[in-house]
Amino acid sequence: MKKIGVLTSGGDSQGMNSAIRSVVRTGLANGFEMIGVKRGFKGLMEKDFTKLESKDVSDILYRGGTFLQSARSEAFKTEEGQLKAISNLQEEGIEHLVVIGGDGSYRGAAALNKRGIKTYGLPGTIDNDIPLTDYTIGFDTTLNVVMEAIGNLRDTMSSHERVSVIEVMGRNCGDIALQAGIASGVDAIMIPERAWNIEEISQALRSGFDRGKTHSIVIVAEGAGKADEIAPLIAEHSGLDTRATVLGHIQRGGTPTAFDRVFTSRMGYKAIELIQEGISGVAIGIEKNEITYHSFEEIFETKDEVNQRFYKLFQDLV
Ligand code: F6P
Repeated sequence: MKKIGVLTSGGDSQGMNSAIRSVVRTGLANGFEMIGVKRGFKGLMEKDFTKLESKDVSDILYRGGTFLQSARSEAFKTEEGQLKAISNLQEEGIEHLVVIGGDGSYRGAAALNKRGIKTYGLPGTIDNDIPLTDYTIGFDTTLNVVMEAIGNLRDTMSSHERVSVIEVMGRNCGDIALQAGIASGVDAIMIPERAWNIEEISQALRSGFDRGKTHSIVIVAEGAGKADEIAPLIAEHSGLDTRATVLGHIQRGGTPTAFDRVFTSRMGYKAIELIQEGISGVAIGIEKNEITYHSFEEIFETKDEVNQRFYKLFQDLV
């Protein structure tokens, strides 16, 4: 019986469990033996393998995090680390490996594929920073977490006539800030992909208060700046009372949304389909609501641009 391994790597994200469940159950349904690798590439080098049956992935669909756990491994970037992982996979008879993770994990998967292990990537990161997929796993859930936090902040900011400066995650990508900004109707966003001017933003906030607004919300993507530094600057330029909030890892938790559950289930299914078709060395994603795949090389060569139409939409809605 052919064996397929599955692991989660890098920062966890809501929907990883749903993706694992889909890979495992679809694999079993098609006659494969399924092996879970604990703690990502670290577990691959340490041969931390566990056989997965259908019951082992019960009760995880609606849980955030990843029951296989995750890690960021520097050792796996070395040739020695990769050769160790490959010999562990070969000893166990695992020919195919599904890697659920972000850009760094894709680089690891691509390296293994070059060395003869057939690999498949699923975009597991809340950052939405992987090219050639409209969504990454957990991004939609994170938007909902941010939206709820903004709702709570809006209540107290209104009572005290304050400006809330909220820092969100995303590394060098402004998608969480931009789309949470659209979803929450905030007054300004600062994202790394576009220039912003503190004086202009402060003046716009000031004139909003002069027109009778009782609160303002500004989202700062972590790649664009720090809320703790920006809030006092806005206070200085606008004369308004400001408060900084860093949402941090709260954004990575919570039960996945229906969207994250459904599209991860579809991608897991696709991974098994590709294995059966003899295709490998590819990253799976969703484009225009179709499950698609591209070679790792294509992903690495493509720049992840901020969605220009979303940005324009935000500007028109403010
Ligand atoms: O890539 C996901 C992410 O949550 C980023 O948004 C953030 O910059 C980073 O991981 C935080 O990393 P860690 O969990 O190691 O603190």
